[in-house]
Amino acid sequence: MGKEFLIAGNWKMYKTPDESRQFIEALAGTFPETAGLTVAVFPPFTSLAVVRCLDRKIRIGAQNMFPEDAGAYTGEVSPLMLRGLVDFVLVGHSERRQVFHESDDDVNRKLLAALRHGFLPILCVGETLPEREAGQTLSKVEGQLRLGLAGVAGDAWANVTVAYEPIWAIGTGRNATPAQAQEVHRFIGGWLAERAGAGAAIQVLYGGSVKPENSLELLSQEDISGVLVGGASLKVESFSAIIHSGLKLLGA
Ligand code: 13P
Repeated sequence: MGKEFLIAGNWKMYKTPDESRQFIEALAGTFPETAGLTVAVFPPFTSLAVVRCLDRKIRIGAQNMFPEDAGAYTGEVSPLMLRGLVDFVLVGHSERRQVFHESDDDVNRKLLAALRHGFLPILCVGETLPEREAGQTLSKVEGQLRLGLAGVAGDAWANVTVAYEPIWAIGTGRNATPAQAQEVHRFIGGWLAERAGAGAAIQVLYGGSVKPENSLELLSQEDISGVLVGGASLKVESFSAIIHSGLKLLGA
């Protein structure tokens, strides 16, 4: 079976609704719809209604979601509010964990709520620099997978995606080398196959300083099936160049 790529752009807290619309309109013309390639962007909540349906080949995701359907949760956004607006939901991004103190249990509740509501959750995992230097990378990632994916069973596995984002590589310009990333991806792929069955073919994305200069080599690694791009997803030229790395590897 050939590879299938997911090229995702996490815009974080950037772009107004107008800027988001202009971005999607400009990006849409830069690549063809291609079998084996999914392109998705994760705009801020305030842009979701604006970018929805602008271009069918660009899928939309939310950067976060509260796990309850409704209630007295000032400032939060529920799964019901996201219905019809997004396909994907990011859960457990390291900025949510670090800046907003989300625990593995919070992340797990969001992931299960996303699955329950028919979204495709992308669980983010990754180690800090001290953890890497202490040789704790795989145990940290294993713990985040185990706790974040607790309670996922049966067919639901097929709707899960994992993103490996080493925290020391996020926004630093210092990406994991393709070999460093591949080692962790191999581990994650094996962990998932043991639980979900090898046939589930769960995609595992790499994130952390992905840019046009390194995307081809990262995507070439055997166990990397896509990228989650921050800074380089904010400009049409650089995000499109990363999409074209995927197209090249698909032979399109
Ligand atoms: P950068 O690509 O800016 O390093 O961000 C990665 C990221 O956090 C994507 O979710």
